[in-house]
Amino acid sequence: MRANVAERLLQHYVDKSRDLPWRSRPGMPPPDPYRVWLSEVMLQQTTVAAVAPRFERFVERWPTVEALGAATDEEVLFEWAGLGYYARARNLIACARQVAARGGFPDNEAQLRKLPGVGDYAAAAIAAIAFGQRAIVIDSNVERIAARLNALPAPARSELREAVDAITPDQRCGDFAQALMDLGATICRPRSPLCGECPVAIDCQAFASGAPQSFPAARPKKAKPVRHGTAYWVERANLVWLVRRPPRGLLGGMVALPGCDWTDDTANAAAAIARVRHVFTHFTLELAVVAAGDPPGEGWWQPIDSLSDAGLPTLYRRAAGAVLETRARLAA
Ligand code: ADE
Repeated sequence: MRANVAERLLQHYVDKSRDLPWRSRPGMPPPDPYRVWLSEVMLQQTTVAAVAPRFERFVERWPTVEALGAATDEEVLFEWAGLGYYARARNLIACARQVAARGGFPDNEAQLRKLPGVGDYAAAAIAAIAFGQRAIVIDSNVERIAARLNALPAPARSELREAVDAITPDQRCGDFAQALMDLGATICRPRSPLCGECPVAIDCQAFASGAPQSFPAARPKKAKPVRHGTAYWVERANLVWLVRRPPRGLLGGMVALPGCDWTDDTANAAAAIARVRHVFTHFTLELAVVAAGDPPGEGWWQPIDSLSDAGLPTLYRRAAGAVLETRARLAA
C-alpha cells in the first residue's frame, strides 16, 4: 500500500495543490528555507486564509532571515499583531537572530529542532519542504488522515507515527507532506469528508467502513475556565492611553490598553463601558473596559482615529472597537 498511497497523493498534489505564497510548484526546486520556516511558524494555530496576506507583508518587509534578525522586537511584534499566540513571535525573533548569526538554517531535522520555537512538527516540515529530506510530518490534519486510512478509533501517537512513516516516500518528501496537509484541509475534513474526491479512498479503511467521519472518535472537550479582567479606557481630546505589556507572559511585549491582572475579580464588571469575551488556549477571558481619568504608569497617547495602526492584538482591538461602537450607538 505504501508506494501506491504516496504515488496517488503526489499525483493529486500535482493536479490540485493549493497555490500558496510560501510554496514552490509541485516537482520544482524547494522554496527558500526562510519562507518555509516563517510560514510553518505562522501556520501553527492560525489558518491558511489568515496567514497568507500576513506572510506576504512579512516577507516584503523582511525578505531574508538576516533582515528579520536585524529588526527590533517592537517592529516584529507590531507586524505580528492579530496573529495570536505571541510567544511564537518572541521565539521567531530569537530564532531569526540565531540563524542569521550562524549563517543560515541548518538542513536537518535534529539541528532544526534545537532552534527557538521549532518543535517536532516544524522541524520535520522544514526538513522535508525546504531540504527535501525524508521526515515524518504530522500535524492534527495528518493524524486524522492516518487514523482514517487505518480505521483507528483512538490511536496512540506512536501508532499514528508508524502509520505515516509507512506511507512516506523517500523522494519528494516536501511535496508529500504538503499533499497530506492539503488533503486534510480540503477533502479529509473533520466533519464532512469529501471521499468522492479523495485520491486514496480506495486505500482507506474508514471509507470502507461506511462511516469515515467517525475516525478518529471525538474526544470529549474539556470546559475552559473563565477569568475576569479589567482594562482602562483613558481618553483625552481624541487620544487614548496605550501601554506595552511586560515582556513575559500572555500577550507579552504587545501593545495594550492599561489594566490589571486577569484574576477572578468581577468587581468592575458593573461599571464597564464595554465588555469583550475572548477565548485563549487554556481559558476564556471576560474583559470589562472601564473609563478612568489618569494615565497609569508608562505609556503614550494614541490618536483614536489611528488605533488600527497601533499594533494592538485582537483582544484589545476588539475591546477598543466595543467602546467606540457603544459610543457611536449612544450618539445615534
Ligand atoms: N499548514 C501547516 N503547514 C502548511 C503548509 N506548508 N501548507 C499548507 N498548510 C499548512
